[in-house]
Amino acid sequence: MITTKDLRVRFSDGSAIRYGDLRFENGRSYALLGASGCGKTTLLNLLCGILTPESGRVEMDGRDICRMSQRDRDALRIRRVGYVFQDFKLLEDMTVKDNIGLLALEGVDISGMDALLDRLGILPLKKRRVRRLSGGEKQRVAIARALIKRPALILADEPTGNLSFETGERVVAQLIENAGEGTLIAVTHDDRLAPRFDHVLDMNAIARFEAAREAKDRV
Ligand SMILES: Nc1ncnc2c1ncn2[C@@H]1O[C@H](COP(=O)(O)OP(=O)(O)OP(=O)(O)O)[C@@H](O)[C@H]1O
Ligand SMILES: [Mg+2]
Repeated sequence: MITTKDLRVRFSDGSAIRYGDLRFENGRSYALLGASGCGKTTLLNLLCGILTPESGRVEMDGRDICRMSQRDRDALRIRRVGYVFQDFKLLEDMTVKDNIGLLALEGVDISGMDALLDRLGILPLKKRRVRRLSGGEKQRVAIARALIKRPALILADEPTGNLSFETGERVVAQLIENAGEGTLIAVTHDDRLAPRFDHVLDMNAIARFEAAREAKDRV
């Protein structure tokens, strides 16, 4: 389970986003909906410790990740969190196999790679460099890289943005199935896919943007 308490992040330009108290249960899937810029990606980055809040807490299974050392937090993220980034963050000059294979260096068991690539419909692309893949193919490689860890927490930022509706439906079903007893939190713009999740959160209402104060008002 992952919870937030009084969570607020502040950017270097002085603007801030307040999220308050949120709760994501084990064995449940959550769709985050909301306008561009409302703070969906920022929340995912806070939940896995890539971003540090200005105030408040993020607790993963009762542990406050904000109080951990950077090293412990990184180790937790590598072990327990599968993150499908909005911009994939794949290594373009490496093959699909090597992008996923890199995780073995961090102790991840990658023996299920072929079966996973097959389920995602990209097994024939295994030896191809990422640079030569289409957007939808890259998206599925990013999903495979996140799922190979069998993570307790899956964060997926627009995981179907580059896919046809039919492929998107299959990918959402796979994400939900893989989340199992863990937690799935996925950003989606697709109103047709949102009902597949156990809960739909309207981030327009949850994330409160606070504009930067004028310089003269700052201490
Ligand atoms: N490093 C930063 N410095 C200043 N402002 C930032 C920073 N990162 C994000 N923001 C602002 O915070 C808000 C939320 O950004 P975020 O990327 O979380 O939006 P989003 O909901 O994921 O949007 P999209 O649907 O377009 O991906 C935006 O107004 C953005 O400009
Ligand atoms: Mg985003």
